[in-house]
Amino acid sequence: MGNTLNVCLYNTDPDSSGELVEHIQSLNFVRIVGELCNPEELANALSDGGINLVFFHLDPDFDPVVDIIDQVATRYPDLAMIAISHQTDPQAILAPMRVGCEQFVCEPIDPADLASAVSRVAGKRLLSQPTSRCLCITGASGGAGTTSIACNLAMEIGQITKRDCALLDLDLQFGDVAVNFDCDARYTLFDLASAGADLDEDVLSSAINSLSCNVAILSRPEQIDQQEMITPDTIHRVVELLLSTYENVVIDLPRDMNPCTMAAVAHADVVFLVCQLLVPSVRNAKRYHDALQNMGVPDERLEFIINRTDGRNSRLGIEDIEETIKKPVYACIPNDYQFVARSIDFGRPIASLDKDNAVRTAIRKMAHKVLTDTSTEPAGKGKRRGFFGRLLAK
Ligand SMILES: Nc1ncnc2c1ncn2[C@@H]1O[C@H](COP(=O)(O)OP(=O)(O)OP(=O)(O)O)[C@@H](O)[C@H]1O
Ligand SMILES: [Mg+2]
Repeated sequence: MGNTLNVCLYNTDPDSSGELVEHIQSLNFVRIVGELCNPEELANALSDGGINLVFFHLDPDFDPVVDIIDQVATRYPDLAMIAISHQTDPQAILAPMRVGCEQFVCEPIDPADLASAVSRVAGKRLLSQPTSRCLCITGASGGAGTTSIACNLAMEIGQITKRDCALLDLDLQFGDVAVNFDCDARYTLFDLASAGADLDEDVLSSAINSLSCNVAILSRPEQIDQQEMITPDTIHRVVELLLSTYENVVIDLPRDMNPCTMAAVAHADVVFLVCQLLVPSVRNAKRYHDALQNMGVPDERLEFIINRTDGRNSRLGIEDIEETIKKPVYACIPNDYQFVARSIDFGRPIASLDKDNAVRTAIRKMAHKVLTDTSTEPAGKGKRRGFFGRLLAK
């Protein structure tokens, strides 16, 4: 089902419509499919499938709506239902809950209360493949080495698991994931965004470039201006589809925290923050960490990678960094500019140039850690609930 809820609103009171829709639209990861004002419209929408949650506005005529909830609950036992009403006496709250609503939200609506109700019902139903793992990688400063690590990590994961690891380039303007593999992507994220409602597993697979090194690349748009077509909704859908298709998904994220970035982060089992042994880089990594944490990403899902470690020339040591970030670094990748640059210029992963190179060895070690570490274990039901719940409230 993924992390986006398709919802509809059942409402027979035109005066409340604007406000209710506005409140629902202000929730993250919720897509309003329609507002329905009679039982026939509701029945048609539900029979078309794909709806995860219905908000029932009980006002002004309470009893008929409770009857409808009763019938819908019998016919669609897995559907989430939330009642909304100005009436707050115990009877008004109990009646819809007895027939199947899981949550009741009082009007005037408190946005935090609405988000909490939605996160409770979502937590029981949402989540991508419980067996899939989503790893986001982003840099604390430009040129930190994010793309190099993302590409080589995906390849090592693919080779260790002997199954394709998906690699999504979300640096929509200047991403160079495909170039790093010397891959001439015929279709890109832009084509998936253009598919709109037709975007499904088949459309996704037509845009994926499966390489012989066990990496399946989904490239950024070819033209820079095509990025305007990519919306957070597109990202949600694409990541959802990737997670339902691939066991491991690596996402090369841009540095800016825009809605598209956050749409991907919402799916992440871990966000890796790449920094170098330089004071500004470490400071920015910590600022990035704190900002993500404030947005609801738990600390245990945020990990630091130190790239280009070079004990001899750096004034900072790993222990200085750990003191600043207040946790152990997840991985250290050594410095070897000639080699990494050669790998990029040739469009060949590091391992294919020299399997014993120290940079390659460190990334392979990180891949093993990712695949065996419980902190990056694929999210099981309930595990992602708190994170998702907090992100729901904008
Ligand atoms: N471990 C390393 N040792 C030496 N050089 C490295 C290492 N990792 C990356 N580099 C070099 O750093 C430069 C930037 O790498 P990369 O493109 O991976 O960074 P990035 O964080 O994705 O950059 P951007 O912010 O532009 O997206 C490249 O020239 C690459 O060769
Ligand atoms: Mg990059």
